[in-house]
Amino acid sequence: MNNSESITHRDRFLRACKCESTDRPPIWMMRQAGRSLPEYRALKEGYKFTELVQNPELAAEVTLQPIRRFGYDAAVIFSDILVISEAMGQPYELLEQGGVKVDFALNSKADVDKLDPSRVLDHIAYTPEAIRVVRKELGDERAIIGFAGSPWTLASFMVEGGSSRDNLRSRALLYSEPKLFHALLEKITEATIIYLKAQIEAGADVIQLFDSQGGTLAPNKFWEVSGRWMQQIIAAIGGTVPTIVFARNVHHNWNKVVQTGASALGIDWGIRLSDVCKEIPAHVAVQGNLDPALLIAEPEAAIGETQTILEEMRGRDGFIFNLGHGVPPNADINAIMAITKTVQNFK
Ligand code: CP3
Repeated sequence: MNNSESITHRDRFLRACKCESTDRPPIWMMRQAGRSLPEYRALKEGYKFTELVQNPELAAEVTLQPIRRFGYDAAVIFSDILVISEAMGQPYELLEQGGVKVDFALNSKADVDKLDPSRVLDHIAYTPEAIRVVRKELGDERAIIGFAGSPWTLASFMVEGGSSRDNLRSRALLYSEPKLFHALLEKITEATIIYLKAQIEAGADVIQLFDSQGGTLAPNKFWEVSGRWMQQIIAAIGGTVPTIVFARNVHHNWNKVVQTGASALGIDWGIRLSDVCKEIPAHVAVQGNLDPALLIAEPEAAIGETQTILEEMRGRDGFIFNLGHGVPPNADINAIMAITKTVQNFK
C-alpha cells in the first residue's frame, strides 16, 4: 500500500474485515472500556451500569473514551449482550463482586412464552441512538462496531440466571426439552435481527456476534444450537456490513464457524492464529488473539507477545489485532498503551 497516509482508520478496519491487505493490521480491544480506565470509573461513580447503557449521550461518551486515549481504528458501541433479554422481559443487574445476575432464571415453558421479541425496538432504541451520537463525534474517520450476543450465549445467561462456568443447567434443559430450547433460541434470534438492523441503519459499519459460551456445547451440538442461529442472523442482515463471529473455545469446529457466513472470525487465546488459518478459507479474515493476562503483566512481556502475533500473521490479508477475550478489570493502562503502540507502529 503506497499512499497509507490517506487511508482512514475506518478504511483500514473495513479492508481487513473484507480480507483485503492493509498497511498495518487494524486494532481494537474487546470490551475496550472494561473497568480499567480511570475516566470510565469516574463516570461509573455517578451512575449504574444500566443507566450508562440506556443513556445515548453517556453510552457514546464511554464508547469514545478508549478511542481518545488509544486511537483505536474502530469504536465498539458501549452496551451489553443482556439488553435483548431485558427488552424481552427479563431484567438484569451487575453484581458488586463481579458478574451479572438476571432477575429470575428461565425455568418453564410459561417463562419462555412470556418473552416478547417485538418489544425490542421500543426498549432498546438507546443503542442505535448512541451509535448516531458516536458517528457525529467520529465523523467518517473510524469504524463503529455494533454487536449482539449469539442466541446460544444469551440463552445460557437467561437459563442460568447469570454467568456460569459450564452452563450445566442450560445444557441439561437443551437435552431434555429440545422444543422449548428451540423456541427460546428462535425468539432471541428474531429480537437480535431487529436490533442489529436498527444498529446498521444508525451507522454501525461492522457487526460482531459474541458466542463466548459456544465452547461449552458438546461438539456435535454446536451447529444445531449455536452456529445455525448465527447463520440465520448473518443471512438476515444480508451482507449490508461485514460480520465478525467470536466463538470462544470452539476449536474443533472451525468449518461450522465459517459456515455461519461471517466475514471474519474472532479467535480466543487458546490456539495459534496460524493453526486456525490452515483450517479456514483465505477469504475469511481473522481477529485476535493476545492473552488478556498480558494486560496485567510486565509491559515488556506484552510487547514481546504482541510482536510474536504480528510476525506470525505478517502477509496474511484480513488480519485484525485484538485480545483473545475481554480486557480484565485490573488491566494496567501502560500495558494496554504498549501493546497498542506496538501494533500501530508495525511495518
Ligand atoms: O468497550 C466495551 O466495553 C464494549 C461493550 C461490551 C460490554 N459487554 C460492556 C460491559 C461488550 C461487547 C460486551 C459483551 C458481553 N457482555 C459479553 C460477550 C463477550 C464476553 O466478554 O464474553 C458477555 C458474556 C456479556 C455479559 C456481561 N456483561 C458480563 C458477564 C459482565 C460482567 C463481567 C464481570 O467481569 O463482572 C458484563 C458487564 C459489562 N459489560 C462490563 C462492561 C464494560 C463491566 C462493567 C462494570 O463493571 O462497570
